[in-house]
Amino acid sequence: MSRIHEALKRAEQERAAAQGGQAPGFAPAVAPEAPPVIPESGEHAVARPGSPSTFSAAASSFSGAFSLDSLLGRTPKVDWQPDQKAMLFFNGNESGRGTEEFRTLRSRLYHLRENMTLKKVLVTSALPKEGKSFTSANLAQVLVRQHGRRVLLIDADLRAPRLHLMLGTAPAPGLAEYLQGTSDEFSIMQRGSMENLFFIPSGDQISDAAEMVANGKLKILLQRVEPLFDWIIIDSPPAVPVSDAGVLAKACDGVVMVVRSNATPIDMARRAREEFPDQALVGVVLNGTNTETTPYSRYYYDAYVKQASPESKS
Ligand SMILES: Nc1ncnc2c1ncn2[C@@H]1O[C@H](COP(=O)(O)OP(=O)(O)OP(=O)(O)O)[C@@H](O)[C@H]1O
Ligand SMILES: [Mg+2]
Repeated sequence: MSRIHEALKRAEQERAAAQGGQAPGFAPAVAPEAPPVIPESGEHAVARPGSPSTFSAAASSFSGAFSLDSLLGRTPKVDWQPDQKAMLFFNGNESGRGTEEFRTLRSRLYHLRENMTLKKVLVTSALPKEGKSFTSANLAQVLVRQHGRRVLLIDADLRAPRLHLMLGTAPAPGLAEYLQGTSDEFSIMQRGSMENLFFIPSGDQISDAAEMVANGKLKILLQRVEPLFDWIIIDSPPAVPVSDAGVLAKACDGVVMVVRSNATPIDMARRAREEFPDQALVGVVLNGTNTETTPYSRYYYDAYVKQASPESKS
């Protein structure tokens, strides 16, 4: 069964359970193929013990055109005012609702990385408002929580950028200026109060987003800065209505697909997957589950990112 199908099946099961019944074939057990499930974050905190991280830090220095010194020296420090509701790791509560699921997602990505090149991760979904930005931002935060890991978060949604709002910072200069050739790598990067988290906002709104994303400069940007980071997490527009995500995926090592619980139609999720046939689908996140109304909620806290292989592709 494909992972998207699996995630959608779980969403259907959850909906059925929330309505007082069970979807056919529902098995109340922790399936080894369970997708990462991110609950709707809110006031009801669900704490679980953290999952150990086994991956050793990537090289912490880089000797080349862009050194760590130039990264730290040239990247402006900005006073971010993060949205405390959406940015789960900025509020000092490491056991808030949803945080454990992001830790689990992190450890699955590290596990995958033992067997494949995985640094540049695109986060996408089929349709708008499914939680791409929420997932990107919190994945970047949880990755940087591990000592010494340096993470670059990029808002590559040039159409409806949102990460700068979540971080509480200016949207420009950013990716759009780099793609237009008016700013260099470091002048579009920001760092703020969370150590080792770097951010490239979307930049000023542009009318030719598809052309800009496809002009080849993003790949150059990633090649130049990637030795400086342990992870690069890229937020994107929805994959079905516009082509950007498919183009962005080609510059990445893997794709994380967000499926919104009770919302994403299965045919849309399938169509989204078809937008990047050659890229490794490294994970499917089932976002926005309502554990308050789900009898088997604890089973939904299992997270899963399957080993990328031709068989595992949807
Ligand atoms: N698990 C969650 N818990 C609480 N709020 C969430 C969750 N997932 C998403 N949200 C909120 O839902 C809204 C939409 O999420 P988000 O902006 O991440 O979606 P998106 O897929 O990036 O949308 P777009 O396609 O417009 O870029 C935001 O306000 C976000 O903070
Ligand atoms: Mg978004």
